[in-house]
Amino acid sequence: MLMEDRLGAAAYDFEGKEGVLPGVYYYQIIQMCGLIKAGDTVMDLGCGPCNLLCILAQLNPESQFIGVDLSDEMLDIARKNIKEKRISNITLIKNDITDIKSVASGSIDIAISSMAIHHLPDIDSLRTLFKEIERILTPEKRVYLYDFGKTKRTETIDFFLSTVTNDFVREDYRNSLKAAFSLNDFRTLTQQYLGKKAQVFSTRIVPIIVVIKSRSHELTDEQKWRLRTMIEALNAQQRNDFNMLKLFLRMSGMRSLL
Ligand SMILES: C[S@@+](CC[C@H](N)C(=O)[O-])C[C@H]1O[C@@H](n2cnc3c(N)ncnc32)[C@H](O)[C@@H]1O
Repeated sequence: MLMEDRLGAAAYDFEGKEGVLPGVYYYQIIQMCGLIKAGDTVMDLGCGPCNLLCILAQLNPESQFIGVDLSDEMLDIARKNIKEKRISNITLIKNDITDIKSVASGSIDIAISSMAIHHLPDIDSLRTLFKEIERILTPEKRVYLYDFGKTKRTETIDFFLSTVTNDFVREDYRNSLKAAFSLNDFRTLTQQYLGKKAQVFSTRIVPIIVVIKSRSHELTDEQKWRLRTMIEALNAQQRNDFNMLKLFLRMSGMRSLL
């Protein structure tokens, strides 16, 4: 499902700037920085308003970023965000992420995606996405794909949502968790299309978050300093989200790079 409702897209953009998303974004941005080398071309699948992508592009000025989304509403907001921040290393493409015909095979160094995959309607579309990722990537096949994982019990979903006070965010999360693919689906497709180039991680105890990631390198001192400064500026709730995500993924073996 696309996010084509203008008010919903604007509310999501707000959450990405000042609401519940920055803590989650920074966790991902750290991990993404650990994959990117100067000169890389990075494609963000389902980029939405580009709040995450803008920060990533600013931290990696010597790389090029392409945001792909099919929603005009999201792309309008993304254009505005990129312009306001005067970012010159992001271009946007309006396209379905499962069929990016305008992108040549083997032309992308890294495919990234944050909280977009569960929008695909079924397992066939998920398989098509993995095929498409394999097609567009260089033989190194570097990826960072982050999404929700399916939970078996609705009580688990209720438990996770019990601390979310904003109605829009709570319902959006609920729908996302219900739409999520299973950890097993992600494992099978990763094995099939990315082989040993990527590993699947999930939050310990309940696989509510799934991350598919290639091997990282160390961050530069400048990146570490900038990221630490940005994380210190988060509010208490955002920092708590960041720390919880770090803890639960650390328990499944995901190395912390800061
Ligand atoms: C929840 S938003 C995530 C945005 C951004 N990645 C983030 O982390 O903030 C999901 C985005 O995926 C887009 N999307 C969903 N299905 C898509 C598809 N098949 N092709 C392109 N974009 C899609 C939606 O329009 C929406 O902008």
